[in-house]
Amino acid sequence: MAAVPTISLNNGVEIPQLGFGVFQIPPGETVKATVSALEIGYRHIDTAQMYGNEREVGLAVRESGIPRDEVFVTSKLNNNRLERDDILRSFDASLSDLGFDQLDLFLIHWPLPAVADYVARWKVMEEIYASDRVRAIGVSNFQPHHLSNLFGASEVRPAVNQVEAHPFLSQDELRAFDADHEIVTEAWAPIARGKVNEDPVITEIARQVGKTPAQVTLRWHIQRGDVVFPKSVTRSRVEENFDIFDFELDQSAMTAISALNRDERTGPNPDEFNYVPG
Ligand SMILES: NC(=O)c1ccc[n+]([C@@H]2O[C@H](COP(=O)([O-])OP(=O)(O)OC[C@H]3O[C@@H](n4cnc5c(N)ncnc54)[C@H](OP(=O)(O)O)[C@@H]3O)[C@@H](O)[C@H]2O)c1
Repeated sequence: MAAVPTISLNNGVEIPQLGFGVFQIPPGETVKATVSALEIGYRHIDTAQMYGNEREVGLAVRESGIPRDEVFVTSKLNNNRLERDDILRSFDASLSDLGFDQLDLFLIHWPLPAVADYVARWKVMEEIYASDRVRAIGVSNFQPHHLSNLFGASEVRPAVNQVEAHPFLSQDELRAFDADHEIVTEAWAPIARGKVNEDPVITEIARQVGKTPAQVTLRWHIQRGDVVFPKSVTRSRVEENFDIFDFELDQSAMTAISALNRDERTGPNPDEFNYVPG
């Protein structure tokens, strides 16, 4: 089995660079899909309170028989948990649903700039971190200006910033900002929800290296230092997405893929997204 590289977070915790995302996997399918990913070799699962499948992720980790400390699990604070007590309770519920004593990484899911104070939410995240029930804390969908607002007003630097990123939204400036502040960038929708399959440049590189467009795209992310967790309920694709450690893209292929950027999102713009579930 290929060894997945790890990246050191700013507090020394190691995160596997390739994981398995479970967004939009219905709870009824999550155990099977996650056990299957763990069998294939994934040791990093990305879930969220909002996905409604934390319980099933925990069940899958136990069912796999893999020791808990060998699987890195991330969850995220739901957008309707805005007040301190509610945030603390929801974290307790996440741990209880997962059946874990400690989570590996907990993120603020969205900044929600027009709804609530993300700096105040971050301070509660710091409290949770101080309780030692999570190994690292971070944010998701934060723009550089959101992060700058945190820096002056808080003690703990986010370990990661999880944002939409793929060849059509390369996020070069945001990634450079994250790196300058010792924040690891995690790329969600890393294969642009399958759109990379239709791109002629990626398809041609894939033909040349004897891999699929999804594999080439995931390899591009790995080589530029992103953490990725493609989602699939299709076992052959979960295997395909893991099989990216036996080849390398040369500089011209890396540059050609980076040049595909057109700042095109598949999801919402974090400056405008203020959705709070009921
Ligand atoms: N922080 C956030 O706000 C946020 C937002 C969105 C996602 N995420 C995280 O990022 C993870 C991945 O993002 P995503 O699910 O939106 O997008 P994605 O991983 O880029 O794409 C998933 C889609 O691509 C298909 N697919 C997977 N592997 C493929 C392959 N090898 N060839 C062709 N198609 C393939 C899947 O189909 P099938 O499943 O039908 O096989 C699914 O429709 C999520 O699961 C979640 O953990 C975070």
